[in-house]
Amino acid sequence: MVDKNKIIKEYEIRLNKLKLYNDQYYNKDNSEIDDKEYDKLKKTLINLERKNNFLIKKFGSVENIIGAPIQNKFKKIKHGKVMLSLSNAFDLKDMEDFLKKIQNFLNIDRSKIVLSAEPKIDGISASLTYKKGKLTQGLSRGDGIQGEDILLNLKTIKDIPVSINDKSFPEKIEIRGEVFITKKDFAKIKTKFANPRNAAGGSLRQKNPKETAKIPLKYVAYGFGSIMPETFSKQSFFLQKLKDWGFQTNELNTVVKNLDEIDEHHGKVENLRSSLNYDIDGIVYKVDDLNFQKRLGSTSSSPRWATAYKFSSEKAFTTIKDIIIQVGRTGAITPVAKVEPITVGGVVVSNASLHNEDEINRKDIRVGDKILIQRAGDVIPQVVSVDKLKRKKDAKKFIFPDKCLCGSKLHKEFNLTTKRKDAIKRCLMGYNCSYTAKEKLKHLVAKDGFNIEGLGKRVIDKFWDKNFIRLPADIFNLDFKKIEELEGWGSLSVENLKSAINKSKKISLKKFIYSIGIRHIGMENAKTLSGFFKSIRNFLKMKDETYRKSSLINLSELDGIGSTQLKSIDNFFEERLNYNIIKTLSDRLEILDHKDENKDGIFSNKNIMFTGGLEKISRSEAKSITEENGGKVMGSVSKKLDYIVVGNSKPTKSKIEKAKALQVKIINEKEWYKLLNL
Ligand code: IVH
Repeated sequence: MVDKNKIIKEYEIRLNKLKLYNDQYYNKDNSEIDDKEYDKLKKTLINLERKNNFLIKKFGSVENIIGAPIQNKFKKIKHGKVMLSLSNAFDLKDMEDFLKKIQNFLNIDRSKIVLSAEPKIDGISASLTYKKGKLTQGLSRGDGIQGEDILLNLKTIKDIPVSINDKSFPEKIEIRGEVFITKKDFAKIKTKFANPRNAAGGSLRQKNPKETAKIPLKYVAYGFGSIMPETFSKQSFFLQKLKDWGFQTNELNTVVKNLDEIDEHHGKVENLRSSLNYDIDGIVYKVDDLNFQKRLGSTSSSPRWATAYKFSSEKAFTTIKDIIIQVGRTGAITPVAKVEPITVGGVVVSNASLHNEDEINRKDIRVGDKILIQRAGDVIPQVVSVDKLKRKKDAKKFIFPDKCLCGSKLHKEFNLTTKRKDAIKRCLMGYNCSYTAKEKLKHLVAKDGFNIEGLGKRVIDKFWDKNFIRLPADIFNLDFKKIEELEGWGSLSVENLKSAINKSKKISLKKFIYSIGIRHIGMENAKTLSGFFKSIRNFLKMKDETYRKSSLINLSELDGIGSTQLKSIDNFFEERLNYNIIKTLSDRLEILDHKDENKDGIFSNKNIMFTGGLEKISRSEAKSITEENGGKVMGSVSKKLDYIVVGNSKPTKSKIEKAKALQVKIINEKEWYKLLNL
């Protein structure tokens, strides 16, 4: 007699593995195994099913759903307009901040801000291009700049019209929307995928569109990318148009006028949430007026005119098994609670963040405690509260370590902005600490930096353990023969990695500066530095102390570069190893000179400073307009200034005096608009 339970167990272990690989593949774009191994695993499962019918009864068949080989490489095509992601809001206070920022930026009365409120369906975004009413292109989001050509698969979705006959339909338009699967349809294929989003993603990326067609996918439209001509003035009007043109839009879309209405609407939809036939994880609020949207523009990652207000997160009780510490790429030490695995919001959770030492002390969190945890969005779950009544008498207070995992002493830094010691303890060893180093390497190759596909976090860990990599340059000097011998690697995945690495060798100065991970230098500041240094050659000169001193003084005049950044840049070049790292990289790579994004702009090569409040627009909008027109906004008066724009409200006298003395051209707000032809 065969042991049925044993077979079920074995099948389940393999099935879970398959699900994990699916998840890695579809959601994280970073599979541990190659196609061949994936197929082998699936075949084993199918054989088991065939021999043991009860498996199919219990789990359904693997064959039905993920029957076809997964398409690995779709053709990549550039989006007409980049697909950004959204900033998040988690409570009403965040929404108040969102509104305040808009109000300040536009320098308008709060009552003028009307928002389009749209449920945020948790699926996969897809961009559809129509030319003269015909669907000609269908792309996934990809990295936001380039998407994958999944037109044939998208065409199997009934909600997506292939031709539109309507006079008001633009000549050329990119329609943006979400591909998803209903809860009911997901229930039928539940054993195969971790969640509906995963199922939609998996189905969309099939090699054979017939496989995509097997899963009933839906499409709801919510936005546009490039468009010609634009014949509407509000997002809410556009949503109405979408309906007229034959697209599905969400039936709960509406407009709201103020914080109270946001709050009320949010509560209403949250109550409806469980009764809807599709997963939503929040509401997207967008400034309704498209002119305002254009003026607001976006930061490097998300538009200023929209945010996703997430629903309150799901909570669950569990027990702390252990408290460990993790080291981040900046050396920051984060305590993490290892908890009894528990499902929260459809995802198995086994870690919860404890933030920092103060937080542990404040909540008095101990190993063995029963805790309530919550999961919000994709972030690591957090501890909400500790049930102290259930605590065992002998539970010991957690003593926060004063040494890093690498053994070196931890420090709390002095924060120049708050003029206080940081709450976070840090290891300051950089690449000399193997824990920090690994995280730095992960940052280097991530999407916003070198963007090396196939070199995800787990791969970095593995390569590190195998001694393949220690410093950034090692990535460009890998021994692929050795990699091919590793478990889970085949010739195909090695080839893919090789070509991804080769591709990444050409990199903009901005991304390079961002990737090397100088503290306090995010993408915006990296852009500023890139514009300042212009070439890697100049950047490398920072090794020289005299050059560095004078450069830092010049840098201090740039907007966004404050004392924290200056100190950090100085520290970075003070450390010999850092210089060696970037020098070695620069010898191996092609780091492209800075390209001014708008070099034909009216302010190209011009330095501008503002003093005093402007009447019509805010300082931030003035900055973004200046940059859009090729100019640089400075933070202080110097000879380098081409213009100082004096606003009506409280300009600084001493700055104007200094500008006069230096013979800098002084103009008022009106004259500035005139230069811009506004
Ligand atoms: S607007 C720049 N509107 O949410 C504007 N996004 O990070 C970005 N999503 O995966 C998107 N419903 O596909 C927008 N009504 C809606 C949406 C929506 C769902 C998804 C979007 C993306 C994510 C935003």
